[in-house]
Amino acid sequence: MSRNEEEIYVPGRKTIDEVFDKSTLEVLYDLMNKDYVEYVDYPISTGKEAKVFRAVSPEGELLAIKIMRLSTSIFKEYRKYIEGDYRFKRVGRGRNLVYNWTRKEFSNLKRMHEHSMNVPEPVTFSKNVLIMKLLEHQGVAAPLLKDVHLELDEMKDIYDIVLENYRISVKKAKMIHGDLSEYNILYSEGVPYLIDVSQSVPTSHPMADELFLRDVSNLSRYFSKYGLETTEDIIIKTIMEEES
Ligand SMILES: Nc1ncnc2c1ncn2[C@@H]1O[C@H](COP(=O)(O)OP(=O)(O)O)[C@@H](O)[C@H]1O
Ligand SMILES: [Mg+2]
Repeated sequence: MSRNEEEIYVPGRKTIDEVFDKSTLEVLYDLMNKDYVEYVDYPISTGKEAKVFRAVSPEGELLAIKIMRLSTSIFKEYRKYIEGDYRFKRVGRGRNLVYNWTRKEFSNLKRMHEHSMNVPEPVTFSKNVLIMKLLEHQGVAAPLLKDVHLELDEMKDIYDIVLENYRISVKKAKMIHGDLSEYNILYSEGVPYLIDVSQSVPTSHPMADELFLRDVSNLSRYFSKYGLETTEDIIIKTIMEEES
């Protein structure tokens, strides 16, 4: 489906581009009944594959609700990330593919969080809806690293923390992010967090090396352009070095 087709509104038919179809509303209703969500505030981000909303739990905690679009054709491209992952035997088609994708993001997030990586804390998931804790910065949703302006020495601290997290990811959690860049790092109160881990794969996955090198290349490009002295080789060495 082309972008234009997605945006055409046909009176009397559901808007194809929206995330709030009947099934998704039922999932949200269920999550509210189970006391995960008190109310949904407003959208933080609208992407091709997902929309993220700010929400509040009954205890008053701020949440980020990521709703994967059921109507997207883009998910088909991601079969290859699920195939080859020993944790997911069945890839599924259509909606099931999207549900598996959501489950995969939740599992990845959980595994990374359990290894104390800087990722949002996962709360729960159901079908195409994933709930995690909201990352904040100065009272609002945390901005992307690409949108914050930092002094060079502060960016060096961010770089060090990102690399330390990647090291834990590879060595302890045994996961490769697979889409890491300044677009998937949030800046929350001076600390970087890695987000958007749906495409992340275990280090045993056939695509792990390729994805690892792509992440390294993105990090090297961004941080060196910012003015830090780094290269892909330096990043690989830092990530792979043994703990002292
Ligand atoms: N836990 C979170 N806390 C705050 N903002 C978030 C959180 N998760 C996602 N976001 C926001 O939503 C955007 C989209 O989320 P992301 O997981 O990157 O999905 P995608 O890039 O596939 O749309 C992010 O760029 C970020 O601005
Ligand atoms: Mg993203």
